[in-house]
Amino acid sequence: MKRFTKMLVAAGAFLAVSTAANAQVKIPADIEALLTKNTCLACHKADQRLVGPGYKEVMAKKKYKPEQIVELIANPKPANWPGYPPMAPLNVPKDEAMKIAKWIVSLGKK
Ligand code: HEC
Repeated sequence: MKRFTKMLVAAGAFLAVSTAANAQVKIPADIEALLTKNTCLACHKADQRLVGPGYKEVMAKKKYKPEQIVELIANPKPANWPGYPPMAPLNVPKDEAMKIAKWIVSLGKK
């Protein structure tokens, strides 16, 4: 029960922060850890162009399913993004790639 209360408090704090940041995408901590570990954040932000397109932009332009994103991480298709340097294929463990992919897809629904 204590844990649940803690979770509620954390969720409330999270909501407060995301509202204050006004529409900026707050990356959940577990996803952020995966993005950091797999170097994605060196080139991608959630909602802004960096080296590569922001993940929100990816979902606004292409209506990917998580499986397609998992595939694109292993085999990028630079032709999908003219005006950007090509992304190098990345060897991300399948379960981690799927968690990241599901989160990216969720950005398209906001
Ligand atoms: C060295 C820079 C770099 C890193 C690291 C990187 N990306 Fe990219 N990414 C890019 C660039 C540049 C593009 C656009 C050109 C392309 O698709 O090749 C891109 C495109 C994408 C796309 C759109 C694919 C498409 O064809 O529509 C997704 C999704 C993506 N990256 C996810 C990731 C994820 C997840 C990671 C970490 C596992 C990651 N990227 C790591 C630079 C990077």
